[in-house]
Amino acid sequence: MSKICTDKQKDMESKSAKKHVLVSPSLLSANFLRLGEDILSVSSSDMLHIDVMDGHFVPNMTIGPLVLENVQSITSLPLDVHLMVENTDFFIDLFSPLKPKFMSVHLAGATHLHRSIQKIRKEGISPSVVLNPHEDPSTLEYILQDLDMVLLMSVNPGFGGQSFIESTFKKIERLKEMITRLNPNCLIEVDGGVSDKNIHRLSVLGVDVVVSGNYIFKSKDRKEAIKSLQVPVHASLPR
Ligand code: DX5
Ligand code: ZN
Repeated sequence: MSKICTDKQKDMESKSAKKHVLVSPSLLSANFLRLGEDILSVSSSDMLHIDVMDGHFVPNMTIGPLVLENVQSITSLPLDVHLMVENTDFFIDLFSPLKPKFMSVHLAGATHLHRSIQKIRKEGISPSVVLNPHEDPSTLEYILQDLDMVLLMSVNPGFGGQSFIESTFKKIERLKEMITRLNPNCLIEVDGGVSDKNIHRLSVLGVDVVVSGNYIFKSKDRKEAIKSLQVPVHASLPR
């Protein structure tokens, strides 16, 4: 692991020790014609969320490892790779050499989920499973012990800028109960439609990491937008 990576890792750990919700801006909402500038504009965040889409699992396509390698050359933010693909193991192999901090695979995209999770772990990467909006957390009963994070989709995967699906709140409560019982160290990440409008409720429910694309990249002051999401963990709802 490079020194930059180790330093950023330490930084991330100390940030999480301060216990604020970790913010992972989704690169999908960046302007790809000035990608470098846009990445540097979100350097006060805690991670960088990379959406990988294959045009099969979701009706959209994004970036591959070549672009990501270039992204890594200009930022020391830990990478949070979200694979929205049909051939899960192929993509794990493709992105593993880049050593992201997290690699999230969809429950619906993996034929042998347990094997895929072990594969990610073996690479020294933190494994995470993604649930689509209709999927029940109870499906994770026998895999939760092996995970470092569960990613709950709060929109249908494929596109940025969609509205937050309200039933996610109830799902977070259920998942939190399971995590407390089965693997208290496992983080909860929420992806899609996150903004200053729902961040307080998410933190009260125990969400550890939020992905945010449009809210951050479309705001006039991205640093302020990021700060508005880095609320204390388990903050109480504002009046
Ligand atoms: C959707 C992606 C999300 C998305 C989030 O498939 O997984 O990461 O880019 O963007 P916003 O915050 O705009 O919903
Ligand atoms: Zn995502």
